[in-house]
Amino acid sequence: MLFGSLEMGLKFQVFVLCLSILFFTIAATTNSRDAAALNSLKDIWKNFPPSWRASDPCEDWVGIRCSNSRVISITLPSMKLSGPLSGDITTLSELQILDLSYNKDLTGSLPTTIGDLKNLTSLILVGCGLSGPIPDSIGHLSKLVYLSLNSNSFIGPIPRTIGNLAELYWLDLADNKLTGTIPVSSGKSPGLDMLVHTKHFHLGKNQLSGTIPEQLFSSNMVLIHVLFDSNSLTGTLPTSLGLVQTLEVVRFDRNQLNGPVPSNLNNLSNVNELFLSNNKITGSIPDLSGLNSLNYLDMSNNSFDPSDFPTWFSTLQSLTTWMMDKTQLQGQVPPEFFSLPHLQTVVMRNNQLNGSMNISNNHSNQLKLVDLTGNQISSIVTTIGADDVDFILQSNPLCEESGETKDFCIPEVEISPYSTQSNNCIPGPCSSAQISSPNCHCAYPYTGTLAFRAPPFSDLENFTYFTTLEEHMVRTFQSYQLPVDSISLSKPHKDSNEYLNLTLRVFPPYDKDSFNRTGVSSLGFVLSNQTYKPPHGYGPYIFMAEDYQHFAGESRSKKSTNIGIIIGAAAGGCVLLLLLIFVGVYAHHQKKIAQKANKQNPFAHWDQTKSSGNIPQLKGARCFSFEEVNKYTNHFSEANVIGSGGYGKVYKGTLPTGELVAVKRAQQGSIQGGQEFKTEIELLSRVHHKNLVGLYGFCFERGEQMLIYEYVPNGSLKDSLSGKTGIRMDWLRRLKITLGAARGLAYLHELADPPIIHRDIKSTNILLDERLIAKVADFGLSRAMIDPDKGHVSTQVKGTMGYLDPEYYMTQQLTEKSDVYSFGVLMLELITGRRPIERGKYIVREIKTVMDKNKDLYNLYELLDPTIGLGTTLKGFGNYVDVAMSCVQESGADRPTMSEVVKEIENILQIAGLNPNAESSSTSASYDDASKDTFKHPYGNDVEAFEYSGGFLPSKVEPQ
Ligand SMILES: *[C@@H]1O[C@H](CO)[C@@H](O)[C@H](O)[C@H]1NC(C)=O
Ligand SMILES: *[C@@H]1O[C@H](CO)[C@@H](O)[C@H](O)[C@H]1NC(C)=O
Repeated sequence: MLFGSLEMGLKFQVFVLCLSILFFTIAATTNSRDAAALNSLKDIWKNFPPSWRASDPCEDWVGIRCSNSRVISITLPSMKLSGPLSGDITTLSELQILDLSYNKDLTGSLPTTIGDLKNLTSLILVGCGLSGPIPDSIGHLSKLVYLSLNSNSFIGPIPRTIGNLAELYWLDLADNKLTGTIPVSSGKSPGLDMLVHTKHFHLGKNQLSGTIPEQLFSSNMVLIHVLFDSNSLTGTLPTSLGLVQTLEVVRFDRNQLNGPVPSNLNNLSNVNELFLSNNKITGSIPDLSGLNSLNYLDMSNNSFDPSDFPTWFSTLQSLTTWMMDKTQLQGQVPPEFFSLPHLQTVVMRNNQLNGSMNISNNHSNQLKLVDLTGNQISSIVTTIGADDVDFILQSNPLCEESGETKDFCIPEVEISPYSTQSNNCIPGPCSSAQISSPNCHCAYPYTGTLAFRAPPFSDLENFTYFTTLEEHMVRTFQSYQLPVDSISLSKPHKDSNEYLNLTLRVFPPYDKDSFNRTGVSSLGFVLSNQTYKPPHGYGPYIFMAEDYQHFAGESRSKKSTNIGIIIGAAAGGCVLLLLLIFVGVYAHHQKKIAQKANKQNPFAHWDQTKSSGNIPQLKGARCFSFEEVNKYTNHFSEANVIGSGGYGKVYKGTLPTGELVAVKRAQQGSIQGGQEFKTEIELLSRVHHKNLVGLYGFCFERGEQMLIYEYVPNGSLKDSLSGKTGIRMDWLRRLKITLGAARGLAYLHELADPPIIHRDIKSTNILLDERLIAKVADFGLSRAMIDPDKGHVSTQVKGTMGYLDPEYYMTQQLTEKSDVYSFGVLMLELITGRRPIERGKYIVREIKTVMDKNKDLYNLYELLDPTIGLGTTLKGFGNYVDVAMSCVQESGADRPTMSEVVKEIENILQIAGLNPNAESSSTSASYDDASKDTFKHPYGNDVEAFEYSGGFLPSKVEPQ
């Protein structure tokens, strides 16, 4: 099957090549007028693509397509073009598509002669730096179908001539500085009411004012998306809106509309998302019982008359989101409301809702948030199964009067932690600006923000929405023959306009580390002109690209010569060329197979006895043969298993010298890429410190990947904290362990060369040796700071929930301070004996809430682990909590460095009467008990963490 598809692919390539060669021979050179126009652009633009140095635009220039010597399309999104848009461009009279999106240094105004481009069907200038008014002549582009001028700085009114664009399907002028009223036709002058074939009016985020003309909408129209949000529109909503039966998304929020909502809005049975929030709408809350496709309703912050909770909700069987802040709702919320089957989010802050908050037995199983802050609720009745729902009842009598400290009285900080996960592989350290793809390949992705302007859902913790989108995108991009290996989505969040923003990264094929110009412009075009359509149910989106910094092959000098060869060959005939191409492709294919084989075995040419370039740079770690390890572990006997996880198993082994080792053996199916394995070994072998688990060596033979560590007999700190090991954990022991772990980490940050960020500090990764000296383990997620001057590594967010630095999560910039945060959480775990997130409660928040420095033990008595020795004086306790809390400061800049933490803890040890530099003298032996037999050695990660598994599935490597 593989060969089948390969053959198909080849045939197709050859077919296309042959076609284009025939084409080249017919279309010899660019029409001289068109060439002159393009050359004038080249003269005024900086950063034009290097291929534009060639003489013939139609043949050689990136982003230019021609037909019969005439330029028919210019697609140059994300090319970093800089300069004005010269009027010469409008002499390209055959031009059909002009897309210069995402060139934010493309400035100046649209040429007033833009109307000369009589054949233009798509004018796409999203996210450039254009300013000035939109010329009236735009109304002469009679073939225009797609007009996107959004996210520029255009000023002045919407040209009424746009009404003449009879073919227009898509009108997007959003996110500019447009002023004036919305033009409608009168007498001979045209207006937007004439656009009866247009499906999209996207005019949000401007400064449009005046009333919305009644004439604007009519029953002839086929509009599906009407987005007028964030303007300064006044007056009432036009009744005519209710005539546009095709409407699916309606946004008039964030204006100054007043008066009542027209009752015929209730006829719009296809509307999925309705936003009327943040206006001054009066009258009673409208009856929306007819909107039975409604998913998302936001009527917040208006001037409605006081009313009881509407009874018509029961017909809204598709409702996910109900936003009714400050709408003068009063009385009791009917318990049945929560049974709407898809309900996710209910927000009704600052109303006069009263009585009891009842969640019925059969509430929606998707319900995640009920926020009734600032109402008159006096009691709450929830049923089993409502544990997953976050209730917020702050500023209600229920919380105020009783002085309740229940969860629902304390506001939650909400983050959606979604970020595309690695596909069963370990993200290797990448050089500073590269990013590890979901297939753990370091590359320069094409990056930007996907903004959904009216998503039908609100539960950002339901990752299904993102994984579905991800899969759909990869599949669709690959079906367009775009050079895409994988994509990642991260940081979902609502912005101030309630748009759902996601960071999108598109990664190049496995054998490349960046996209070339053609790749970038194709990707940009697919997103700027909405060729890519998300699966149904995500609503309208826009994409805003970031500048692409690493076009493939551009540091090298010449590259256009092979085009010359192809052209030359074309003259010689297609048959000969076919042969040549076949040979070339075959050779390339063979080479790739060979390269891939090499990739799988980076030690392939490594002769242990001689030195050669391929030797991993190891200090101290040695290479064991499979036979050796097999012997040490007694043929990997089950009796020697001391730990296991998704990555495989950990075996206890005995070296011929009698020394014990722990062998971490990746299981079949979780073998990581050879390069990654090599990197990990190099990283591990470089660090040597008493408080770090030492690497003895590795084995990379017979398809096995094993790491051989020093054996640390007393398991993990977590095992001891949870009582599993039977080791008594008194205050002084905890202090010494804290110090040891801090020193290990400080070494990684400040003395290792290059510095290493651990990325997964947690209690299962702190091991205790026979003298209970702490040793930091598991560098599986570590990142070397290749460029320490930069101060951070940009990376996909990895780590373990609960320990994860929120700042790292938000910025994706990993610094040492992220480890400091995790270390602070670890310190809190050490005194409380609780996991960082237990029964939905986050330790950092718990402590912050309860802590009172004026009280004994900072008022934390209730939260402390009783086995810490609560009867005794915990000397230095206050200082300890102070250090821990400074480590979990929200901003990394406010957190101490690890060496500062070490100093503080040394002081605390002295306060407690210990010599920080003395070795721990007591051994743990006296505290060991029978449970030792069942003790599992915790090398590696536990379930929440990212598993030590790896390997690229070949099918993922080669996009078809
Ligand atoms: C709730 O408010 C309504 C209307 O404001 C009032 O009639 C009713 O008595 C209140 N109920 C309770 C339990 O306070
Ligand atoms: C997540 O969303 C999907 C798609 O809407 C839905 O089928 C599923 O039930 C949701 N899961 C949860 C836990 O809400």
